[in-house]
Amino acid sequence: MFKFRGILINKHILLGISGGIAAYKSAELVRLLRKQGAEVRVVMTHSAMQFVSPLTFQALSGHPVHSELLDTDTEHAMGHISLARWANALVIAPATANTLAKCSHGLADDLLSTLYLAATCPIYVAPAMNQAMWHKPVTQENIQKLKSHGVIVIGPEQGAQACSETGFGRMSEPVEICRRLMTDPSTQCFSGLKVLISAGPTREPLDPVRYISNRSSGKMGYALAGAALKAGAKVTLVSGPVSLLAPVDADLVSVETAAQMHAAIMSKVSEHDIYIGAAAVADYSPLLIEKEKIKKQDEQTTLTLQKTRDILAEVAQLANRPFTVGFAAETHDLEQYALDKLARKNLDMIAANWVGQIPPSPPFSKGGENSELPTSPPLEKGDLGGFDSDQNALQVFWKNGKKNLAMTDKNHLAEQLISLIAERMEHERHDKNTA
Ligand SMILES: Cc1cc2nc3c(=O)[nH]c(=O)nc-3n(C[C@H](O)[C@H](O)[C@H](O)COP(=O)(O)O)c2cc1C
Repeated sequence: MFKFRGILINKHILLGISGGIAAYKSAELVRLLRKQGAEVRVVMTHSAMQFVSPLTFQALSGHPVHSELLDTDTEHAMGHISLARWANALVIAPATANTLAKCSHGLADDLLSTLYLAATCPIYVAPAMNQAMWHKPVTQENIQKLKSHGVIVIGPEQGAQACSETGFGRMSEPVEICRRLMTDPSTQCFSGLKVLISAGPTREPLDPVRYISNRSSGKMGYALAGAALKAGAKVTLVSGPVSLLAPVDADLVSVETAAQMHAAIMSKVSEHDIYIGAAAVADYSPLLIEKEKIKKQDEQTTLTLQKTRDILAEVAQLANRPFTVGFAAETHDLEQYALDKLARKNLDMIAANWVGQIPPSPPFSKGGENSELPTSPPLEKGDLGGFDSDQNALQVFWKNGKKNLAMTDKNHLAEQLISLIAERMEHERHDKNTA
């Protein structure tokens, strides 16, 4: 249904359910929100509990349902103010004419309407009612008032109604409500975060017309920039020479050499929360750059190369470093090299992929350990996985954990990696807080 799975990771959605027939649809909404990684807490009005049992929502959300304003137990565990503060978004679906009227007039005589008043997060309502109730001037006035107060109204839709009438008043489908939340910057997993991404190859000049470079197309880094933007981040993309269009909302810094990439990254990194080093930076560059074109003379010639600076390691060593993600492109012993790089460079995460000919026994031709994806098409024999390809597969490692992301197109793969980064950052934050 949704391609970018996990875009609501770690986000807190408070779902208010009021008393209409459409309350049964909210069960599907909880499922979809959780599938996207959101934590969902449910508040039901007394009327809503006549339509669907709270047990359904308790089971689907994994948390007890809240319904009482004046309940000493729940006040102790999570009072209405802390519940309102907990939420990144309040969604009332279905929103009855009665609940909408109470919200628009500032009445607070039950838990849901009190939460509406106490909430400081974005508020969504998905009205659901009989078409005559919807068209009644007072309901329309209430809706206009709520809109003018910043409430986001989703739907209602037109069609056949449970009461056998036809018209506007059907609650929008859960998929649509979920989609709206997924595109709200305040509920996306990277909202408020700044991400620095390096992409593409570097060119190390030999003389005015020649250079040493590699096969990197930049597609993975550019896909990551697009996915991070979709997830609500501000993105700076430091790119070597590629023939790709950068996402319009990314702040693009174009560089050519490893030294320029190093300078650009180090000057920007302190402003960012996450660094993803997806560029294929040259490990060595010519010691001397000839001022004039090198002439063809001897049968053999020798180039002297010097090591370039290790951008990833330098970023990871910073005192106030961002969450640092490296890439490892290997032709052999992938896992061993990746784990070694993770530890040696002190990274938070490393995404490893094969480059060159396909490995003899691919863990990537099917959903690997922990993979949520079904079997994916194997690489064609002789296909270059990784570099210069639209498809890729990744084996992602972090301290004491790993996940295989099966062969798929780079945009989809990038979205999965962004979700995984959000998940790991939350775990690290949680571990730090409980240490
Ligand atoms: C069978 C039945 C279905 C109802 N469906 C709706 C509905 O879809 N939308 C609505 O606004 N009210 C509907 N109502 C009326 C509400 O349940 C009623 O206004 C109630 O007071 C709403 O309380 P609440 O807003 O606190 O949940 C329905 C009532 C009944 C008996």
